[in-house]
Amino acid sequence: MNLTPDEIQSLYETYGASLYDGEAVTQLEHALQAASQAESEGAPDTLIAAALLHDLGHILEARNQDRDNAFPAADHRHQLAVVPFLQRDFPDAMIEPIKLHVDAKRCLCALDASYFSTLSPASVHSLELQGGIFSETQVAEFEQRPHAQAALRLRRWDDLAKVPHRSTPDLAHFMRYVHQVYQPTLAATTK
Ligand SMILES: [Fe+2]
Repeated sequence: MNLTPDEIQSLYETYGASLYDGEAVTQLEHALQAASQAESEGAPDTLIAAALLHDLGHILEARNQDRDNAFPAADHRHQLAVVPFLQRDFPDAMIEPIKLHVDAKRCLCALDASYFSTLSPASVHSLELQGGIFSETQVAEFEQRPHAQAALRLRRWDDLAKVPHRSTPDLAHFMRYVHQVYQPTLAATTK
């Protein structure tokens, strides 16, 4: 279940050409554009890696449709489904923003009236499936969570990463950050 950087790269190479539901970019283009935004803002390596991998859950869904349909088609909570594949060998500073990037959208909608109007139609649609705009109490709870601010940054890059044919560095370029933050455990290396 624990994915290595090489396995992650191969998943994007194999399944990244799938369209990002309702968007005009592929999953790979979306990932590269999000990581590119993070890199251009000088984000830490963990957060650039998170930007690249934030929708790895969707890539796993694409893979599983070829196999056993392990993920249902509706709101399959891709931000959480991916966690077991990463949590042993990657730091919380990468995993938590990935986990929180959907709640970050719900939070930003509550905090910033202009933010909602920037969402793509697909993102507005999924917002409802994901539980809708946060209440004041939910915003306060969210902001208490470790890595919440990083998740809010990631979310803005996510929303900007849907531009057809935008040029970015390639997957190998951004995979360097994933290798950089990878922390395989002793158990993993001695298996
Ligand atoms: Fe995304």
